[in-house]
Amino acid sequence: MKKIILTPLLLTVMLLASCSGDEKGLKDTFEGDFLIGTSMNMPQITGRDTMAQPFIVKHFNSVTAENCMKWERINPEPGRYEFTLADSMVAFALRNNITVIGHVLVWHAQTPDWVFQDSLGNPLSRDALLERLKDHIFTVVGRYKGKVKGWDVVNEAVDEDGSLRQTKWLQIIGEDYIEMAFRYANEADPDAELYYNDYNNEERAKRAGVIPIIRNLQAKGIRVDGVGIQGHWHLDSPDMEIIDESIGEYAALGMKVMITELEINVLPTPSWLYGAEISRIAEYRDSLNPYVAGLPNSVEAQLTDRYAELFRILLKHDDAVTRVTFWGLHDGYSWKNGWPIPGRTNYPLLFDRDYNLKPAFHAVIDEAEKFK
Ligand code: XIL
Repeated sequence: MKKIILTPLLLTVMLLASCSGDEKGLKDTFEGDFLIGTSMNMPQITGRDTMAQPFIVKHFNSVTAENCMKWERINPEPGRYEFTLADSMVAFALRNNITVIGHVLVWHAQTPDWVFQDSLGNPLSRDALLERLKDHIFTVVGRYKGKVKGWDVVNEAVDEDGSLRQTKWLQIIGEDYIEMAFRYANEADPDAELYYNDYNNEERAKRAGVIPIIRNLQAKGIRVDGVGIQGHWHLDSPDMEIIDESIGEYAALGMKVMITELEINVLPTPSWLYGAEISRIAEYRDSLNPYVAGLPNSVEAQLTDRYAELFRILLKHDDAVTRVTFWGLHDGYSWKNGWPIPGRTNYPLLFDRDYNLKPAFHAVIDEAEKFK
């Protein structure tokens, strides 16, 4: 047998082939089913990570800003807007026929305190806060009119028990802050899709709070096009039946359904930290970070099976499900390395830290092919 000598050049070629090889892009495999998205962060948008953009173009046909469109980033001070990063992301996407999702207009987190105060630091009145909200939505949505396919208009307005979350939006404006946000977004871009987005809203208790919000908007003739289920999930939770049932229920309301921030945490995590309330954090302990040297095969297999099972359900609902967006381009970029416990090594996505395709990637592709 002829011996192959591994020269540095050959090694580089092999590495590139394993990363961006001849396999079909993820998005092409799901063509006709739903869009496949990823979040984008700063090194990816600026191109500092030179592999990121070609990789995104190959595998994804939708992008969401991980942070750069959030209030604290895009409108950090009264009257000051920082559009540079968001503009670059939108330009990159449009150049490459990738749809852009706007994230996020109204949220309790990553929103500066000044938003709720007057220039003396006193709480704003209802009218003044509504005026500020309208101005923000008109400015941001207006800038990307015709470029952003859909907006997460309101994020995480409901608590675990289904009640409205106690936020400054609710306290100052009242329950109709949600309606008002949807009205303003519709006025600012009548052609963009408008979504309600949340975590744990597949769970029955929270769903029981989200459904009346959608029904109320519909009853008042206020446009809402879809529900985003964030999908910050775990190896052992939630049950697949719950995901299945929730997609069915939202679809029955006439909603498009999207999984908007998908990842599957593989690390031991106390269940009170399940979900995605970003203000909750716990202290680092080595016992909670067991796979620094690599993911054991047995856990990798669990992750692979869980992704396969999940995509089986999503494909079954492909009439209702319009998009599945992963929260992070590869394992190294996932926010789950830093939250809810800082400094861990997590493996929640389909691509590893060197952009290699993981077994979960192949499992998801297999599901799509079985389904065709
Ligand atoms: C996260 C980002 O991934 C982090 O980089 C940031 O530090 C905190 O927010 N729900 C959402 C997302 O809607 O915007 C959050 O993203 C995760 C929870």
